Formats: sequence, C-alpha cells, structure tokens
Amino acid sequence: MTTTNSSQGIESSPFTQKHSGLIRIWHWVTFLVLSASMITVLINSTMLNPGDNIGLVQNQLKEKGVTVSEEQAFAVSHEYEDKMWDVHKWLGFGLAFLLVARVLIEIALPGNEKIRSRIKSATGLYKLSNGNEAEYRHYLNVKKVYTLFYLILLLMALTGLGLAFGRELGFTRPIHNAVKTFHSILQYCMYAFVLIHLIGVVIAENTKDKGIVSGMIHGNKALE
Ligand code: HEM
Ligand code: HEM
Repeated sequence: MTTTNSSQGIESSPFTQKHSGLIRIWHWVTFLVLSASMITVLINSTMLNPGDNIGLVQNQLKEKGVTVSEEQAFAVSHEYEDKMWDVHKWLGFGLAFLLVARVLIEIALPGNEKIRSRIKSATGLYKLSNGNEAEYRHYLNVKKVYTLFYLILLLMALTGLGLAFGRELGFTRPIHNAVKTFHSILQYCMYAFVLIHLIGVVIAENTKDKGIVSGMIHGNKALE
C-alpha cells in the first residue's frame, strides 16, 4: 500500500509513521536493557555454568595444594553464577519499570499514535478493499506481534518478580519451581520476537520501507 502525505507529497508506506520522542527513547533503552538481560542468561548458561566449572575450581586449588570435593567446588562456581543472576535481577527490575513506562506513554500519546487507534484505522482501510489488502494485513499483523511482545514482557516481568520476591510472597518450593519453569520457557518467545523483529526491519529497510529504522531515530517529524 502507498499513501500520499499531502503536505509533503511523500509517497510513503503505512510503516512510515510518526514516532513520538518518548516512544523512541523507550524503544532504544528497552533494546539496550533487554539485550543486556539476554546476555546475562547467555553467560550463565555457558561460561559461568556451575557444572562446567567444577573441574576448573578443583584444578586451580590442587595447584595451590588444596584438594576439594566436587560438591565443595560446585559451591564456589555456583557463587559466580549467582552474582550474574543478581545482575539479571536488577536488569529485570529495569524491564518491569520500562513496561510500566510504556503503558504510561501509551496513555500520554496523541490519539492517532496510540496502538489501538492505529490498528483501528488500518482495519478500516483494509475493509475498503482497494487492492492494498495484502499490505494492510501485513501492517496489522506487525502491530499484533508488538502487542504479543508486550504480553510476553508482562508475563516475564511477573514471573521474574515472583522469583525475586518468592520468599516474601510465601511461595512453596513447588510453586517456585513452576514459576521458574514458566519464566524459563518464556525466554524462547522473547528470542523469537527479537529475531523476527530484526529480520523484519532489515527486510523492510531493504525493500519497500526505506528509512523505517532512521524513522525510529528521528521520528518522521515531517509527517502530518
Ligand atoms: C522482565 C523482567 C525479568 C525479571 C524481573 C527477571 C528476574 C529473574 C530472576 C529473579 C531469576 C532467578 C535468578 C536466580 O536463580 O537467582 C531469573 C532467572 C532467569 N531469567 Fe529472568 N527476569 C526477567 C526477564 C528475563 C528475560 C527477558 C529473559 C530472557 C529472555 C530471562 C531469562 C531467565 C532465565 C533463563 C532464568 C533462569 C531460570 C532457571 O534457572 O531455570 N529473564 N529471572
Ligand atoms: C531487544 C531488541 C528490540 C526490542 C525488544 C524491540 C521492540 C520493539 C517494539 C515493542 C516496537 C513497537 C513499538 C510501538 O509500540 O510502536 C518496535 C518498533 C520498531 N523497532 Fe524495535 N526492538 C528491538 C530492536 C530493534 C533494532 C535493533 C532495530 C533497528 C535495527 C529496531 C527497529 C525498530 C523499528 C524501525 C520499529 C518501528 C517499526 C514499525 O513501525 O512497525 N528495533 N521495536
């Protein structure tokens, strides 16, 4: 679909749209914090995996003349993993804060920039059946995927906060384990979103939506 912006005479796709300053700041801060959070998970499941470091701790101590059991070596390597989980937890608090901020930004956004109103107007255009249905449908699907992302982030934040404050909330061991499993499964939804999103914006930038990425930087302020 192409629409003509009357004031600029710009031929633009529905993805060429204004992004308020607050959304742009929110987007890039979320990108940084979420990436850092995923990196902590990656480091803990590779370099700092306690099981993999038992031999390393035992060997280092042996060179200093101390022999320790596997259990004792595990306790040491586990401490390093825990330190990184602490970093993950604080980044997670940051993400929970960013989610609340996103809700507040949505309330503060001008009417035509709200997700709901963008979905509503695109649905109206789709129903016109003017030959651009495929592109309207794609636009609507992209917006639905963003909504799904916010839902996944909400579930990650709730389960993450459950893990952080489980003791205070009176979680029993089985509840804690269930929350942990759920939190752990959700991570794959997050990786899927990030992957699909990155591939999507790169394809868009290289095909019909040139400038979509810089639009998330300068906001397409020239548009009406
Ligand atoms: C949204 C806010 C988030 C909060 C508040 C949060 C909090 C936490 C906490 C407190 C833990 C337990 C750490 C420990 O064992 O001491 C944890 C574990 C974990 N988190 Fe998060 N997290 C969040 C987001 C994420 C994200 C975005 C990912 C990855 C995409 C992720 C993946 C994981 C994984 C894989 C574990 C380990 C679970 C296990 O041991 O089975 N978390 N998180
Ligand atoms: C952790 C990584 C990322 C996350 C979680 C993320 C999340 C999001 C979300 C939720 C939106 C929709 C915002 C709204 O509510 O309107 C969005 C839009 C956008 N993002 Fe990202 N983003 C990430 C990384 C990136 C990167 C690296 C780029 C650029 C290379 C990028 C480019 C864009 C663009 C151009 C849009 C607007 C596209 C449109 O209008 O549909 N994002 N992103």
